[in-house]
Amino acid sequence: MQLQLGAAIGKGRHRQCFVHPDNKDLCIKVVHSLEHGGDKELRRELRYYRHLEQRAISWEIVPRHYGEVATDQGTGYIYDLVRDYNGDTSRDLGHYLKLGQKSGDFNWLTPLLAALRIQLEKDRIVTMTLKPGNILVKRLSENHALLVIVDNIGEASLIPAASYSRYFYNKKMDRIWRRFMILLEKYGYRAPEDIMLPGIDKQQLHGLAVSNHFGLPAPH
Ligand SMILES: Nc1ncnc2c1ncn2[C@@H]1O[C@H](COP(=O)(O)OP(=O)(O)O)[C@@H](O)[C@H]1O
Ligand SMILES: [Mg+2]
Repeated sequence: MQLQLGAAIGKGRHRQCFVHPDNKDLCIKVVHSLEHGGDKELRRELRYYRHLEQRAISWEIVPRHYGEVATDQGTGYIYDLVRDYNGDTSRDLGHYLKLGQKSGDFNWLTPLLAALRIQLEKDRIVTMTLKPGNILVKRLSENHALLVIVDNIGEASLIPAASYSRYFYNKKMDRIWRRFMILLEKYGYRAPEDIMLPGIDKQQLHGLAVSNHFGLPAPH
């Protein structure tokens, strides 16, 4: 039997994302483009998911993967759907960055980024390029939120050194974060140095992460 999918809630370069017709807390991703190695990229991601499952991570900042299902749009891959406290589908960081750019207020962003960096490090999760379109802002209340990474986790290299060595993990993620902060500068955000410092289990980073996210723009 095939699941009938409704309207897409998101679309990336390779995949479209739909609400699971039988469970609003799950989403189904379907590959819509084989260009730029869409299917290869998916296989790589699923391999990395198997690796994370063996390590029993907390799944707070990465949606869980639950297997495959046949759909009217082709093979579907099931994941947790990221929702805000009020039930709305969480918007991506790109959406909030544009709001921040308009108001010139980015005070809400630093604690979110610091917390993300801490949590990635805690579960030793590797990412490829960090991009605003692949990070969702999950609002936990009006003034609290969590950044969730929905795409581009894992490593592309044949020998996944960062997954198996703390030294290579830190080296790689230092580089990824430096690039990500340069990308965010295009929106007018200036990250504090602490977020980019090499060797990240820093007191300062924890200090940045604990504050309430007052000033987090309303999504609409
Ligand atoms: N788990 C999820 N929960 C809610 N929305 C999601 C989820 N995963 C992806 N999306 C939405 O769908 C879009 C495309 O998904 P993504 O996995 O990034 O596809 P691609 O691999 O093609 O870039 C995302 O930018 C996001 O808006
Ligand atoms: Mg994407």
